Amino acid sequence: MKVIALNASARKDGNTAILLNTVLDELKNEGIKTDMIQLAGKTLRGCTACNKCMKTLDKHCAVKKDILNDIIDQMLSADGILLGSPTYFSDVTANMRAFIERSGRVSRANDYMLKRKVGAGVVAVRRAGAIPAFTGMFLYLHYMQMVIPGSSYWNVGIGRDIGDVLKDEEGLQTMKTLGQNMAWLLKKVADPKKK
Ligand SMILES: Cc1cc2nc3c(=O)[nH]c(=O)nc-3n(C[C@H](O)[C@H](O)[C@H](O)COP(=O)(O)O)c2cc1C
Repeated sequence: MKVIALNASARKDGNTAILLNTVLDELKNEGIKTDMIQLAGKTLRGCTACNKCMKTLDKHCAVKKDILNDIIDQMLSADGILLGSPTYFSDVTANMRAFIERSGRVSRANDYMLKRKVGAGVVAVRRAGAIPAFTGMFLYLHYMQMVIPGSSYWNVGIGRDIGDVLKDEEGLQTMKTLGQNMAWLLKKVADPKKK
């Protein structure tokens, strides 16, 4: 069993990575394999609306100049998908938006190829705008027909400089609870009779 995390921050190993790792640590405690893709230093472009994915039906985007198809391959091989974005101007980052547009279009074209994977999104924020960012990822996961676990609050951690989120105790607890619920759900989906 494996969960792949996608960190769409422009800062490698920043607050979003810390929040994602807090979730992943709980999954690891439950024996689930994890991996993280960090998009810092990489650029994903948005959907070109070429609609080639609607014809090729090959589970890939026709735009092959960036790593979107590599990300798709890793997600297809995973049981769970964890998205992470900092809040940029009260929304997700441009890279997360591009990921949502293109992987969403490809998934839709291929009979919702990510459906019934367990999916969740987490957000780092300095002060305001986290909920639109959280909602953007939630709406994607929902449309992709993923199964979304809850937590003890919405999945938000507060901090500006790298490491600040470690001071947000409630945010960290929310990530831990999310990780525990995600592990529980992954095991139930794999084997409903298991306690
Ligand atoms: C371009 C840009 C836009 C931002 N917009 C917001 C915002 O709208 N609201 C907010 O509270 N913080 C905003 N921030 C702050 C980040 O969300 C915050 O520093 C976050 O912890 C960064 O996470 P990271 O370390 O994973 O990059 C912005 C930061 C940048 C670089």
